[in-house]
Amino acid sequence: MKNIPVIMIIFGGSGDLAHRKLYPALYNLYQKGLIHDHFAVIGTARRPWSHEYLQEQVIEAVKESNDNFDEKTAREFASHFYYQSHDVTDVGHYIALKELATKLDEKYHAEGNRIFYMAMAPRFFGTIATHINDQKLIGTGFNRLVIEKPFGHDLASAEKLNQEISESFDEDSVYRIDHYLGKEMIQNIMPLRMANPIVKNIWCKNYIANMQVTLAESLGVGTRGGYYETSGALRDMVQNHIFQIITLLAMPEPEGLDSDHIHQAKQELLDSLVIPTPEMVKKHFSRGQYLASNDEVEYLKADQVAPDSKVETFVAGEVNFKKGPVAGVPIYFRTGKKMKDKVSRIDIVLHHLNNLYDNAHSNNISIIIDPTSEIFFTINGKKITSEGLRRENLTYKFSKEEMAQVPDGYERLLHDVFVADRTNFTHWSELKQYWKFVDAVEDAWQEENKDLKQLERYPSGQFGTESSNHIFEKDSEHWIYR
Ligand code: BG6
Repeated sequence: MKNIPVIMIIFGGSGDLAHRKLYPALYNLYQKGLIHDHFAVIGTARRPWSHEYLQEQVIEAVKESNDNFDEKTAREFASHFYYQSHDVTDVGHYIALKELATKLDEKYHAEGNRIFYMAMAPRFFGTIATHINDQKLIGTGFNRLVIEKPFGHDLASAEKLNQEISESFDEDSVYRIDHYLGKEMIQNIMPLRMANPIVKNIWCKNYIANMQVTLAESLGVGTRGGYYETSGALRDMVQNHIFQIITLLAMPEPEGLDSDHIHQAKQELLDSLVIPTPEMVKKHFSRGQYLASNDEVEYLKADQVAPDSKVETFVAGEVNFKKGPVAGVPIYFRTGKKMKDKVSRIDIVLHHLNNLYDNAHSNNISIIIDPTSEIFFTINGKKITSEGLRRENLTYKFSKEEMAQVPDGYERLLHDVFVADRTNFTHWSELKQYWKFVDAVEDAWQEENKDLKQLERYPSGQFGTESSNHIFEKDSEHWIYR
């Protein structure tokens, strides 16, 4: 692997994301040689840590994520980490940061390359981008910005943030990260759809009755109540992860597998996204809040949650496109906290054939993203000893050894940032469409809230609200996974 020279500045270097995801991912890339002698990382955050303290934290993070922990390599890796205590609103701190980056650049021969990573509270993203610009933190080599979600709170704030960022970074240098795009089975959607003549040819309204995306979580909001109150399930999961999955399911076949062609195909699809009216939201969406379970209080009693909050912890809804191979096929989604299992899956429901076998079981294609990684086709066959049809799965899955090689989403995406591959990052024009959809749903809900005392509640450990079973276009449709 080519060794990339770079100084990386992580805003939010003392945070949970850096500890759990970024440091272990960087370590793996270090072991693989993508970054090695010519890199340094500056962690910056409010806390008054020292370089040594950050280095100990990095070693700890590597240890926690590695079964075969090798202390010597971890220490060598951690010696490339530096800490700069930082108040993001204080201009003086950007000057100090710039001096440290310049010094490290010389020490490590980083060729003026910089990666800025925003991994902290999103309300500071704009301020940081502005100061990177006015204090000229940009290096003389390549400059890339990695930015976590949420990118804005609605279309207007996302546009403002985009404007602030664009003063320092071209769109081509902005990497809006969505960790779902780094997941193995999400990256399998295109080959599944496009590399098999059976699947490729049935990918249309004539054969597909509907598509269903389920991202269920068994945990509640825990200590994240404060953030969640500003977000809700719609902004937390639908605006990004669910829409990215749906886009991959519904986009036309790109003319090539490079980033430009893939994004072109995505854009073509998203230009035809149907923005829901309040009537559509009323009929084909459902939202609610979880009730208490043995191990967690109900949402309304969670820490930092308003007792009369109308923020949804579960949402189900429908997406439609006017163009693309599955134009006219309803795409249903649901996601929520405190559901039965931690499961992420896609179910493609095929039409029943009106023929001799009207007693056939439904034929589906399912893609399991988490907790396992598999694809299965359900098919009908005849029962051996009695009349009727039996249903079996044809399964595509990985061995244990293969599963152990699957890199974490963050490792994969950070690798892509280092090698400047923007295929699996969200472009601004796509994000804009996602926000238009989400804003329309939010607006409809705000209207509904005026006559609503409280949201529908759902018991923990099930599949969300009762009303989510009635969002379908046809009475014959239902959730496949239940
Ligand atoms: C994050 C959300 O983006 O995705 C969290 O902010 C959620 O609320 C998480 O728990 C789910 O990701 P995964 O990979 O565990 O399914």
